[in-house]
Amino acid sequence: MSVCTFFCAYAQKYPFQDESLSIDDRIEDLLGRMTIEEKIAIIHAQSKFSSPGVPRLGVPELWCTDGPHGIRPEVKWDEWDQAGWTNDSIVAFPSLTCLASTWSEKLGRLYGVSIGEEARYRKKDVLLGPGVNIFRTPLCGRNFEYMGEDPYLAGKLAVQYIKGVQSVGVAACVKHFCLNNQEWGRHVVDVRVDDRALYEIYLPAFKMAVTEGDSWSLMASYNKVDGQYACHNKRLLQDILKGEWEWPGAVVSDWGGTHVTDEAATNGLDLEFGTGTNGLSGRAKRSYDNYHLAFPFLDGILSGKYSQADLDDKVRRVLRLHFHTTLNRNRPLGCINSEEHYDAARTIAQNGIVLLKNEGNILPIKGENKKIVLVGENVVKKMTVGGGSSSLKVQREINPLDGLQNRFGGKASVKWIRGYVGDIGGEYNGVTTGQNLKETRSFSELVDEAVRESRDADYVVFIGGLNKSWGQDCEGGDRRTYNLPYKQDSLISELAKVNKNLVVVNISGTAVAMPWADKVGAIVQAWYLGSETGNALAAVLSGDVAPSGKLPFTWPEKLEDVGAHRLDAYTDKVEEYKEGIFVGYRADGRVEGVKPLFPFGHGLSYTTFKYSSLKADKKTISPTDSLTITLRVKNAGTVKGREIVQLYISDLKSSLPRPIKELKGFKDVELNPGEEREVSFKIGRDALSYFDDKKHEWVAEPGDFEALVGASSRDIRGKVAFKLK
Ligand code: BGC
Repeated sequence: MSVCTFFCAYAQKYPFQDESLSIDDRIEDLLGRMTIEEKIAIIHAQSKFSSPGVPRLGVPELWCTDGPHGIRPEVKWDEWDQAGWTNDSIVAFPSLTCLASTWSEKLGRLYGVSIGEEARYRKKDVLLGPGVNIFRTPLCGRNFEYMGEDPYLAGKLAVQYIKGVQSVGVAACVKHFCLNNQEWGRHVVDVRVDDRALYEIYLPAFKMAVTEGDSWSLMASYNKVDGQYACHNKRLLQDILKGEWEWPGAVVSDWGGTHVTDEAATNGLDLEFGTGTNGLSGRAKRSYDNYHLAFPFLDGILSGKYSQADLDDKVRRVLRLHFHTTLNRNRPLGCINSEEHYDAARTIAQNGIVLLKNEGNILPIKGENKKIVLVGENVVKKMTVGGGSSSLKVQREINPLDGLQNRFGGKASVKWIRGYVGDIGGEYNGVTTGQNLKETRSFSELVDEAVRESRDADYVVFIGGLNKSWGQDCEGGDRRTYNLPYKQDSLISELAKVNKNLVVVNISGTAVAMPWADKVGAIVQAWYLGSETGNALAAVLSGDVAPSGKLPFTWPEKLEDVGAHRLDAYTDKVEEYKEGIFVGYRADGRVEGVKPLFPFGHGLSYTTFKYSSLKADKKTISPTDSLTITLRVKNAGTVKGREIVQLYISDLKSSLPRPIKELKGFKDVELNPGEEREVSFKIGRDALSYFDDKKHEWVAEPGDFEALVGASSRDIRGKVAFKLK
C-alpha cells in the first residue's frame, strides 16, 4: 500500500485526520469519538506544563512553555525544579518593553517568528505570551514583560508577535486577561474599574490580539475583577471575550489561578493549569485529578449539576488548539541558537534602546585613545536569569562590559569599577549565571574609587538601574519605592560632580526616579536586552547605530504624578482605578504643574528629522469614510537614522471628557542623511470613537477633530483640522 493510499484510507476512517476538511468539521468528528473521561482529561494539566491529548485517537500531548522572552528551561514533570537538561539553553530576546520601544511592526513579526522557531525546536505547542497588560504604575513588577501604557501601540505589536509565533505552528497565549496591572497581592487583589476605562484602556490590546492577531489561546489572570477571579470571570470571559468578540479560542488559566469549580465549569475557562501550586514553593504531588476541571467537574456532569454542553464547548476550543498545533502535520521543525536568531535579538535590542537625553551631544562616544570608565553593577550583571516565569537559561549572554570592550578595546582603555553592590545572586529556580559578584568593600569605599577613577576619564558610563531580583523587575511583587535601589542616586550625583561627560545607562523594564537627571550629560534607557545586550548597547553608544527607540510609556518625575498613586490608596485589597481613562499621557493637562520627566513617545537620535507638507485628503468625512493624512519626513543630519512618526487624534469637543490626544497611528522610516520620504496614515471612524458606557457602544461624535503629527506625545510638529459629519 502506498503512503498516499494509507493516509487516504486512514482519513476516511478518521475524518478528523483529513486535512481537506474544515477544522470545524474535524473538531465535530473527533469530539464525537471521545469518551467523557477523555474529554475531561484534555481540559486540565497532566504535568506542570502539559495536558495529555487523546492517546487512543492519536491526539498528541499539548506542551506549553514560558514565554515571553525566550523558551523557558525544562522543569520536572511534577515540580518546578530544573529537569537538568543540558540541551535546553536558548537565545534570550529583549524584554517586551524593549520591543514596544521599537514601535516597529516589522520587528514584532521578526520577534514572533524567531521565538516561535525556538519553541518548535523545543517541541512546544503553546507559547505563554505576549503580555499586554497596561503600564498603570511604574512600580509594577511585571512591566518589563508588557508593552507600555498605550493600548494601540501594545495591540499593534502584539498582533505581529502573535502572527509570527503562529506562522510556525505554535499557539500564542496572550496574557494576563485582564487588569493584572500590579503584582502586589496579585492572587487576592480585587480590581474595580469603570467601563470606559475597561473598554478604552485595558481591553483593546487583548481585543486586537484575539481578533486581528487571531491568538489561538489566551491566559486569564490571577486577580479578581468585581469580586470574581479573572480565571472564571463570567463578564470578562463569557460576555466580552467569547460573546462580544466572538472569539473561538481556548482560555488557559494562569498557573494556580483557578479557585471555584462552579465558576470554572460555567464561566468560560477551558484549560486548567497549575492548581495546587503557589508559585514556586509547596504543592501536593499528583493532584491533577483533583483539579477543578478534573474529577470535581466530571462528578458534577454525571450528577446533572453541570451540562454536557459546557464540557463540549471547552473540548471544542481545546481541540481547535490541537488542530492548529499538535495535529498540524505541516509545522516546521524549528531551530534554536541560530545566528539568525541572535541577529534578530540584536536588531530588536538596538532599535529599542531609547536615548532620553544627550546634552551637548556627548554621545556617541568617540573612543580612539580615550579613557572610558564604566561604573556600576549592571556593567557586568547578567540579566537573563531572574524575574519570575520569564527567567531563561541562555546559550550565551554578552554583558555590557564584554560588548563595550569588544567594541572599544584596543583603541581605548575600558575599565570597570564596581560603584555599588546590588544583587549578587544570579540564580533563579536552579539556573545560575555562574557569576560571582561578591564584594567586601563598603559603599563609601566603592564610591571613593568610582569618583577617583572618573575624575580624569574622557567618558564615565554609569550602567545601573534595577535587576530581576524579587521586589524589582520581577513577577510576584512590586517595587516599594520609585527611587533606584542600592544608593545609586547618591553615587550618580557624586560622579556628576567630577565629570561632565557622564552617561547614565539605566537598565530596567519600567520608569525609575531620576533626581539627578539635570546633572548628567546623557541618559540612555536600555531595558533588558537579552543575549545580545552588550553588543547592542555598544553599537548604540559608539554610534555604529543611531538610537531610534521611543518610550512606550510616560516617564513620571515622581510617583504622585501617576493617577494610580495620586488618586488611589494603591492597595492589595480592593483596588479602584479612580483615574479611569486618564492613564499615562492621557492624563496630560489634567493636573496643573504635572509634567513628565520624559513624555510618552520620546526618544532622541544622533541625527534630526524635519517634518513638512502635512495634509489631509479631505476637510470633512462621513462615519463610513476614511481620511488619509500625509507628510514628508527628512533626515536633516549627517548620519543614518530611523524616525518614529506618531499620529494622535484630538476630539475638540465631546459630550464625555476625553484625553487631549490619543495615539491612532505610527510609522517608522529609516533615512540616510539628506533623504526625504512621504509618510501616510489612514484612519476611519474607529480612530475617532470613544466608549459610551451608558449606551455600551463606541460613539464617534460629529464635530471638529485634529490630526496631530509628532515625534512624541509632547513634540507635535504639525496638525490638520477636519470634521466628522
Ligand atoms: C505566571 C504566568 C506564567 C505561568 C507559568 C505564572 O505564575 O503568572 O505568566 O506563564 O506562571 O509559568
